[in-house]
Amino acid sequence: CGIGSESNNSAQGSAGRVLDSEAPLPEAFRARLPIPPVLDPVRRDEMTDYYEITQKVGQASILAGLTTEVWGYNGILPGPTLVSRRGRRTVVTHNNELPVPVSVHLHGGKTAPEHDGYPTDLILPVAGDVGHTGHGGTSVIGSRDYVYEMDQPAATLWYHDHRMDFTGPQVYKGLAGFHLVCDDHEESLGLPSGDSDIPLMILDRSFAADGSFLYPSVDPTLTETPGVSADYMSGVLGDCILVNGAPWPVLEVSNTKYRFRILNGSNARRYQLRLDDGTGFIQIGSDMGLLAAPIEHDAIDIAQAERFDVIIDFSRHQIGDEITMVNDRGRVGTSQVMRFVVSHEETDTSTVPDRLADIEVLSENDVTVEREFVFARGGAQAHGMTLWTVNGEPFSPDTVLARPKLGAVEKWTIRGQNVEHPFHIHLAPFQVIGRDGNDDPGRYNQGWKDTVNLDNGGRAELLIRFDGYRGKYVFHCHNLEHEDMMMMANFEVV
Ligand code: C2O
Ligand code: CU
Repeated sequence: CGIGSESNNSAQGSAGRVLDSEAPLPEAFRARLPIPPVLDPVRRDEMTDYYEITQKVGQASILAGLTTEVWGYNGILPGPTLVSRRGRRTVVTHNNELPVPVSVHLHGGKTAPEHDGYPTDLILPVAGDVGHTGHGGTSVIGSRDYVYEMDQPAATLWYHDHRMDFTGPQVYKGLAGFHLVCDDHEESLGLPSGDSDIPLMILDRSFAADGSFLYPSVDPTLTETPGVSADYMSGVLGDCILVNGAPWPVLEVSNTKYRFRILNGSNARRYQLRLDDGTGFIQIGSDMGLLAAPIEHDAIDIAQAERFDVIIDFSRHQIGDEITMVNDRGRVGTSQVMRFVVSHEETDTSTVPDRLADIEVLSENDVTVEREFVFARGGAQAHGMTLWTVNGEPFSPDTVLARPKLGAVEKWTIRGQNVEHPFHIHLAPFQVIGRDGNDDPGRYNQGWKDTVNLDNGGRAELLIRFDGYRGKYVFHCHNLEHEDMMMMANFEVV
C-alpha cells in the first residue's frame, strides 16, 4: 500500500500524575509534522519480506537548542513504519545496541507465541549489564528474528517494547513504531491513499532542563526494581504533546479528504480529540481493521494503545484556513494536539464507501466458557508499594489465569477499579458486546478490537476468539506504569 513517507532525519481524566518539564517548552504549531519513514525490506523472496532494525541511542531535535536522547528503532522516534501485505510473511531481525534488554511486541499481531515479544523473551545487550533475566524466558544475546505470518486483515498495528517491569520507561524513551497491514480488499475501496494516508502517533512527554526525557524512574540499566517510582505508579503524564515526535506540529493539507491512522502511544494519558472547526471525524477503522460501515464522530475518545482510523474532510475549507485538533481531557498545553493548515487546492479522487467490510458478528451462542477478571490495586505488595493486579494476582511468568481452547469463543467480563484501565489482550481480537450495564459496545468500541478502556468502576463484556496458535500469551493493562507494577496475567491457548 502506498502510504505517505518522507525522511525523518532531522488529571485530566487520565490515570496518572503530570510531570512538569524543567526545560522551556516550544510554542505550539511551529514544528512541521514529521512522517515516519517507511522501511524497505533488505530482501524479499516468493513468500517473505525480510527487514532489519537496530535498536539504538539516537538524538532528536524536539526543543529549540537542545537535543533529546531517544532509545529508538533505528535510533528514531517514532521508529520506521513497516508495511506488510496480508498473507505474506514478514521477518524482522532486531539488533539490540541499547544498554538494556529489550523485547519486541507487535501490538495487534496474530503472532506465534515465540515471536510475540513475551516479557521475559529478551534480546540482551551485547555489552554491559544485562539486568535481571532470571524469569525463565528464552533470552538471546544481540539479535533476534521475529516472524509474523500476517494472516490477518488490513489494520493499523504498532510495535513497541515489552520488557518485563520496564516497558513504561523503555517506551517513554522512544521504542514505538507503526506496522501497517494492507490487503487487496482495502485497496479496492478507493480510500485516501499515498500522501493522503498519514499515521499519527500521539505521545505526551516531559523534559529535563538538558532536553532529555524526564521519567520518574530508577535507572533501568541497573536495578531489579520496577522501572517507576512509587509517586508515579498510577501513571506518568507528560506536559508536552508530541505527534510523530514533534511538539504540537502543523500539517499542510489540500482541500480534500485525508486518512489519519491515529494511535495513542502514550504511557498513561487518554485523550478526547476534537477538531475546533466542528467538522468531526469519519471513523473507518478500529484497532484491528476496517469497520463494517463508517461512523461519524464529533469527538474521539482514545485510550492508550487504541487506534482510530479516520477520514478528515477538508473540502469545506478555504485556502488559508487553520483547523486545530484539541484534547478536551487536557489542561493548558495538553489541551492542544496539532494543527492542519489548508494550503492548496487539489482534486479529490478518493471515496469513503457506505460499506467498508464484511465483519463477522460474534454471538453469545458461540460462547463455550465465561470468565471474569478484576483490574484493581491490591492483593500484593513489593518494594513497599501496593501493586496493581489482575484478580488480586501480581504478574508472574509462571501463573496462568486462563486456558482457552484453540478456536474457542469465550465471554470475558472485565471490571476496573480505583482508576481507569485500558485492557489489552495479545493474539486474540475481541468484540465488545456490553459496557457498564448497556447491551452494546458504545460509539467508540465498534468492530474488532484489541484494547478497550475501563472507567473507574467500569465493566466491559467481550467476546474473544482464540485463534491461530497454541501457547502462552499475556493480557494486561496498557497504562504502562500499571503494567510494570504487575497488572498483567498469562493465558495459555490449549
Ligand atoms: Cu501494546 Cu502487551 O501490548
Ligand atoms: Cu491500569
